Amino acid sequence: MNPARWPLPASAEATANIAMVKYWGKRDAALNLPAADSVAVCLDSFPTRVDVTPCAAAEDEVWWSGRPVPPPRIGRFLRVLAILREQSGCRSAVRADVRSQIPDAVGLAGSSAAMAAFALAASTAMGVELSPRELSITARLGSGSASRSVPGGFVRWHRGHQEDGSDSYAEEFASAAHWPDLRLLAVIVSREPKAVSSTVGMIRTARTAPLYPMFVEQCGRLAADAQAAIASRDFGWLARTAELSAQTMHGVCLTARPPILYVRPLTVELVEHVTELSRTLPLFFTLDAGPNPFLVTLAPHDETVAAEVARAFPDVEILRCGVGGGVRIVA
Ligand code: DP6
Repeated sequence: MNPARWPLPASAEATANIAMVKYWGKRDAALNLPAADSVAVCLDSFPTRVDVTPCAAAEDEVWWSGRPVPPPRIGRFLRVLAILREQSGCRSAVRADVRSQIPDAVGLAGSSAAMAAFALAASTAMGVELSPRELSITARLGSGSASRSVPGGFVRWHRGHQEDGSDSYAEEFASAAHWPDLRLLAVIVSREPKAVSSTVGMIRTARTAPLYPMFVEQCGRLAADAQAAIASRDFGWLARTAELSAQTMHGVCLTARPPILYVRPLTVELVEHVTELSRTLPLFFTLDAGPNPFLVTLAPHDETVAAEVARAFPDVEILRCGVGGGVRIVA
């Protein structure tokens, strides 16, 4: 390899993934190694695009929606670039431009898509060829959940046991075509940035919440259940598993010191309404570190679910998605 050739311009796209069994807590914060396995569904819509280009400036630059990413947030991107530089020998600075179609900082997993696309665009720009497993590991160094936006479809992120994180990566266990009827609806009840980031929230929970060990202990079992429920397309089993994972994550956050409450009154009303609707429709909810639930249902009921939610909550915005994804190079 001739390092002087690199970097070349490269662009990649990825979509967010929504955890059915949550990642909440790290066994190693520097390497984003999770305390437990997690299982997620990758979305087919609202991709995030990252363009990496050579940069004349002395330092690397990362721009998000046309604005420079400030410290400490840029540190995640720089960490990924540092690892890639070790592998490529490329010393010149790069500029990355992130354009996300997902509202930023509202808990809709936009950073998972951005970091997965960034890992692919930057590694390609620097001439580093990575296997899917290595790419998932590289994305993980920027943000844990980004490891799951690399493969696409239905994915499991292995906790792994190695201290260097070489066995902690996400892989597809079923393709999007395995369950084409599955539909996800993001319900945006608030666009306010969350007060406590996922990173800070999970570290605080692990350090201070008395119920945290119990939460971690159940994650492995729930991940196995979610994978088996998806493999057998058992909607009811997936619903029970995913709701339990989200509820215990939010429950354990409430027992942190100081407590963390991500939901808003409207979130609670919506969840109650969804529970009511789920008596007659295939439907469940999940909640990440924010007030905006994702609803999961089966086609053709997504039309009815969207209409019912819009009728009861006229001010919320609803984004409808299917299963898909997988990071890719784009022109
Ligand atoms: C609630 O991947 O954003 O969405 O690894 O610190 O970047 P870092 O955290 P992040 O956490 C996601 C948390 C979650 C659950 C999940 O997606 O599994």
